[in-house]
Amino acid sequence: MRRAVCPGSFDPVTNGHVDVINRAAGLYDELVVAVLVNPGKAGLFSVSERMDLLRESVADLTNVTVDSFEGLLVDYCTAHEIPVIVKGLRAVSDFEYELQMAQMNRELANVETLFVPTAPQVGHLSSSLVKQIALFGGDVSRLVPKAVHERLLAHRDQAGKQP
Ligand code: PNS
Repeated sequence: MRRAVCPGSFDPVTNGHVDVINRAAGLYDELVVAVLVNPGKAGLFSVSERMDLLRESVADLTNVTVDSFEGLLVDYCTAHEIPVIVKGLRAVSDFEYELQMAQMNRELANVETLFVPTAPQVGHLSSSLVKQIALFGGDVSRLVPKAVHERLLAHRDQAGKQP
């Protein structure tokens, strides 16, 4: 059984993430999409909201499950006997940091990293940009799964109502 993990903050999941998850799911028998919790960084969405949005966004992929973890990614991999991390690369600028993390994760626990170049149509997407555009009233309907779009609209309406 070939297993891999696709980790990230997913605050929130974008069409870029979904592209990488789709392609990784085609390469492995089982893929875990793991929301890694950064205790020092408050996100727009709670971890359970991020997980719900991910589940809705990848509901058609039968070999994908969604989980969350607070701690080192390699500890999650070791505990779940997952030998491979899959990461998307949008641009050369992603590569330097991703390479460093990949080398560190291999040194720490012999966990390999597979890089998947994102499709060019989604190479410009990031969760931060999507949040900023949505909160200032821009249209992100083409950039994120439907469920995420709806939640972003709800957030914007809520923010607008606050005194
Ligand atoms: O979506 P992101 O924010 O680019 O994901 C980065 C993430 C969460 C995958 C990375 O920060 C991570 O692996 N965090 C877990 C803590 C950890 O293992 N740190 C050491 C990395 S070498």
